[in-house]
Amino acid sequence: MQGRATTTNSLLFARHAGGELLCFRVSGSEEVFIDGLGEQGLGKVMVIKVAINGYGTIGKRVADAVDAQDDMEIVGVTKTRPSFGCDLAVRKGYPLYCTFDEKEKIAAFAKAGYTCHGGLTDLLDVADVVVDCSPGKVGAANKSAYVDAGVKFIFQGGEKHDMVGMSYTSSANHEANLNAAGTRVVSCNTTGLSRTLVPLYEHCGSLKVECTMIRRAADPGDSKKGPINAIKPVLKVPSHHGPDVMTVKPEIDINSMAVAVPTTLMHCHSIVAFLPEGHGLTTASVLKLWAEHPRIIIMNGGETNITTTAEVMEYARDIGRKWGDLHEIFVWEDGVKLDGNTLYYFQAIHQESDVIPENIDAIRALMGTESDWRVSVAKTDKAIFAYNGL
Ligand SMILES: NC(=O)c1ccc[n+]([C@@H]2O[C@H](COP(=O)([O-])OP(=O)(O)OC[C@H]3O[C@@H](n4cnc5c(N)ncnc54)[C@H](OP(=O)(O)O)[C@@H]3O)[C@@H](O)[C@H]2O)c1
Repeated sequence: MQGRATTTNSLLFARHAGGELLCFRVSGSEEVFIDGLGEQGLGKVMVIKVAINGYGTIGKRVADAVDAQDDMEIVGVTKTRPSFGCDLAVRKGYPLYCTFDEKEKIAAFAKAGYTCHGGLTDLLDVADVVVDCSPGKVGAANKSAYVDAGVKFIFQGGEKHDMVGMSYTSSANHEANLNAAGTRVVSCNTTGLSRTLVPLYEHCGSLKVECTMIRRAADPGDSKKGPINAIKPVLKVPSHHGPDVMTVKPEIDINSMAVAVPTTLMHCHSIVAFLPEGHGLTTASVLKLWAEHPRIIIMNGGETNITTTAEVMEYARDIGRKWGDLHEIFVWEDGVKLDGNTLYYFQAIHQESDVIPENIDAIRALMGTESDWRVSVAKTDKAIFAYNGL
């Protein structure tokens, strides 16, 4: 007997051999054995074909995180023109496409010595889902191409929630995003707020928060932004970060203010959370709650001498994280204090990388392949660790 299932993207076979049902996935010209999969599970296994539109700071990281997973693969990444990021894509073996469909723009890649497989439309033809990692506010113009191609789409935090209609963080609203046409992984700051506030909200049943984002001025690879010698308040109160948390967890009542400071390493949050009467927590049990939650690192600054964002980043490099990234939110144990119903704490956010694993979980949510966010998070993180030899 031979069973067959065609998912949106891959062909699966089941064959009886020696009284046993064996399942295979077709990969190129090879049949890959899938261990432990019964015939009824055929429709559940799929290798999701992922396109990355915008291979910059976030795009190149999401591409590698996808490449690390066994249930998804990169079918192509785009560059606007043959600039230095193309070499990385070539080295990684990711098919290179042009962000645009114009023939001259595609031809420019060959002139610079790169094989370009076509324009965005060609890439969308072979994808199940596209992760739009274009610069903030640029992505909105790409949405109609995704909708027309019938491809699911994930935008980043530089786009507006209203343009996309859904937003995402793994712990806040994975279920609400299941099988959606598209979503937006919220910004690095909002992802960081969500990581530590959602467990608190879930324990307490209600939560009011006031916080200040002390933001890095620019990414390390960014030479155009500033300030380089000033502190720049965001003259819009509240800043977008707090209200943005409410796009993934509307029950959290949160306001934020923000200042940009001349550093490129990380953001730092100063957070005051007002817990309801009868919360039953202590400083120690808040720390325990976070320690049991994925993607949060807690360290004692006094004991470790990791007292600034510089040492946090050095720590990330020391433990072998690729690009010196830190996907986890860093909380200083000795900066946490619960005084009655008021909780004070600081946390540091590696802006270039905390959203990376969330994009992987968001892909599974949109494709409906994993409904339990904790299972997805564990799978994502384990695969990234193994991929980077950690
Ligand atoms: N960097 C962060 O710290 C951070 C953190 C969280 C979220 N985000 C969000 O993630 C998104 C990407 O930010 P980023 O920092 O990765 O930006 P980035 O480093 O400037 O990269 C953006 C990439 O998009 C490409 N691009 C330009 N125009 C495009 C278009 N019309 N369509 C598709 N791609 C286009 C650029 O290609 P070329 O290089 O070929 O010109 C560039 O590689 C933004 O929404 C941002 O707000 C950024």
